[in-house]
Amino acid sequence: MIDPRRQGQYERLYTQLEGLIKEKSPNLIAGMATMVALLHAKLSHHFWTGFYFVAGPDELHVGPYQGSVACQILKGRGVCLACATSGEAVVVPDVHVFPGHIACDPRSQSEIVLPLKKEGRVVAVLDIDSDKPAMFDEDDVAPLQKILELLVPLMSE
Ligand code: SME
Repeated sequence: MIDPRRQGQYERLYTQLEGLIKEKSPNLIAGMATMVALLHAKLSHHFWTGFYFVAGPDELHVGPYQGSVACQILKGRGVCLACATSGEAVVVPDVHVFPGHIACDPRSQSEIVLPLKKEGRVVAVLDIDSDKPAMFDEDDVAPLQKILELLVPLMSE
């Protein structure tokens, strides 16, 4: 864990989001919007926090997000598509050395992307960017994935 305080922050955010999403989110978009609002506001290393929906075999469309105005369509390459295609989280300590990285905002320096799956199929990805290098590592994957799974019950319809 890059910042030893982060584990505690993730646990508190999980508890807070569990209440907000399980009891109050009427649908997937509402749950996603609430999740990115909280993750973005509470984790100061987050420069951009948002979702992309899978829109085809090599295309993603932006969903709820917080931060600077984002690319609305990602096509053919990029970190988010690598995650959507593999179904695995992708951690990028330095975006400049990731082949095919898409820079929606050139201030982004490091990135983590996690898959949201329905019945084994990736439906969307959660993308988090930092404007500082090496702000994510493999220790961020499990607690963020646990938070992300709070949305699974909203994907039933
Ligand atoms: N960097 C991403 C594009 C989305 S922005 O970071 C918001 C990618 O390479 O897929």
